[in-house]
Amino acid sequence: MHIHDCQPTLTDLQVMEFCSRGYLALEGVVDDETNQRTVEYLNRRDDSELLGLLTEEWFAEGVLRNPRAAGAARSLLGAHFVLPHVIANHRGKCPDPEPVAWHCDGYSWHTIELKHLMMFYLPQACTPDMGPTEFVPGSHFLGGTSHLVHHYGNIVGTAKATGAAGTVLLTEPTLWHRRSRTRTSGPVRHLLKYHCWRQSPPVRDWVIEEGFDPAAHPEQLMMGAPLSYRRNVQDCHDAAELFLWLCGRHDEFEPLGGPGWPCPVGPSLRQFGIPPSLQV
Ligand SMILES: [Fe+2]
Repeated sequence: MHIHDCQPTLTDLQVMEFCSRGYLALEGVVDDETNQRTVEYLNRRDDSELLGLLTEEWFAEGVLRNPRAAGAARSLLGAHFVLPHVIANHRGKCPDPEPVAWHCDGYSWHTIELKHLMMFYLPQACTPDMGPTEFVPGSHFLGGTSHLVHHYGNIVGTAKATGAAGTVLLTEPTLWHRRSRTRTSGPVRHLLKYHCWRQSPPVRDWVIEEGFDPAAHPEQLMMGAPLSYRRNVQDCHDAAELFLWLCGRHDEFEPLGGPGWPCPVGPSLRQFGIPPSLQV
């Protein structure tokens, strides 16, 4: 087991964004040389040989302990988190007119406690035609399991994991996702997936923004559900609860209903019921 610690890099707003959407994309954070070495490694070897990649120092330093990617994981999982012991490559053949079925990854269960992260690394640039992973933002609160979501077709409001080479995505493990349709006939798409685990209790020790006012950013709590399928502001409440859990202040989560916190109100209105540890 490899344990890692580093400077947390996410801000309050970014943590709130992760809570709401269930994922966070860090565009192009891995350097070009590491991206190229990774693609060469994957092109030369069978996927059964992938574990060797975890023991390559250039890969561990450039990807697993990458200051931005690991700093984000450190922000969400706390100090001394556990680095992956397995890694998988999701090769996407091109073209492939059939998307993979919607699913939630195995080993996940629905809880407000964030014990591990599912992370994706794109060693190549990924365009919409290359079958990028597609997410349903906010679906980590829906309580779906794979056999309940397999049959869905296109869903309104999804997001695709496109981006420059070196992009790393951090996702809540129960987020609904699939490989989307591949339209290009170009080279195979590589997508590396690995998990990191929490070892310490949650605490708000990421980059705390001076004067951060959670009531001033209702859009961050609601952004996960631009086309919500649920009752009024339920997504907002769930995102707020996860945020408070990550702060180590779950005991303060006592939504009052109505327009009280965390319900979004007009920007000029002062909210009632903001948890004590978040008041400015
Ligand atoms: Fe998956």
